[in-house]
Amino acid sequence: MNRDGSEMARAAELLRQARHVVVFSGAGVSAESGIATFRDAGGVWEEFPPERFATLGGLMKTAASDPPEFARFLLAVVEPIARAEPNAAHRAAAELERHVQVTVITQNIDALHTDAGSTVVHEVHGSLFDIVSLRGRFLRRLTREQMRELASGLREAMANRSGVTAVMGVLRPMLGLGIRGAHRPNVVLFGEGMAEPAWTLAQEAVRECDCMISVGTSGVVMPAAMLPMQAQAAGAALIEINPECSGDADHWLQGSADEQMPALVQHAFEAPGGSVS
Ligand code: OAD
Repeated sequence: MNRDGSEMARAAELLRQARHVVVFSGAGVSAESGIATFRDAGGVWEEFPPERFATLGGLMKTAASDPPEFARFLLAVVEPIARAEPNAAHRAAAELERHVQVTVITQNIDALHTDAGSTVVHEVHGSLFDIVSLRGRFLRRLTREQMRELASGLREAMANRSGVTAVMGVLRPMLGLGIRGAHRPNVVLFGEGMAEPAWTLAQEAVRECDCMISVGTSGVVMPAAMLPMQAQAAGAALIEINPECSGDADHWLQGSADEQMPALVQHAFEAPGGSVS
């Protein structure tokens, strides 16, 4: 049960006493940056069913059988991320580093925690900005500006009903399927292994943290969803920030990440006299 002010006070006290905090984030942390979540009403998987768009096989089949739909999916993913800026929740996670050791573990591929200034970020589902060979060898990192150019090129090609070749030309900095230089963004699709070394480092941090803030995740996608349970099993306190309650956390701060995350940091470290009133 959320007990409003008292929940905030207790969570803030835990945070103040912590030595190492893991911020474990999901799509909800970026919702106020204009990036849709996956499973909320109007989420990505509602419009683009996972069986056609969330696996490598499904995506390749969709690309071959229905190129305009494939391009529409890519635009729906790429454009909001290309335009996004960190919100108050990302900034609060970065600000937390001024007070305590922080490791951010994110399922998001939008690079917003890094842009907000967090210095230790493990992107366990990879990053849209990292381009790798089909075998996973790192090739280059795109800038958000390059991502914006790619998104507007893609939007224009779609508006002009350009053919597959033109669309693939626009996508080339991010995605190449030809025999010359096949490459893709380093994002983890369903059925693929977790991004490394991020996943190994994330598990190490979870084993040794004493407080985890789980923010904006439905906690249903394995194996990432195990992390809060692993943290609790290792003795860490679990604070959840989400409009919906999972029932697993020691303290639930009900509401939007961009409001609750800064409020938590402020209560823990910036309340008058260093204590929560
Ligand atoms: P989901 O879409 O499953 O869950 C989003 C969560 O954010 C829900 O619990 C919402 O209640 C919450 N939420 C919505 N708006 C919020 C806000 N403003 N502030 C705080 N919380 C809010 O997204 P994830 O849990 O991130 O993986 O999904 C996990 C994985 O499933 C993704 O990384 C992706 C997806 O399929 C892959 O594709 C491999």
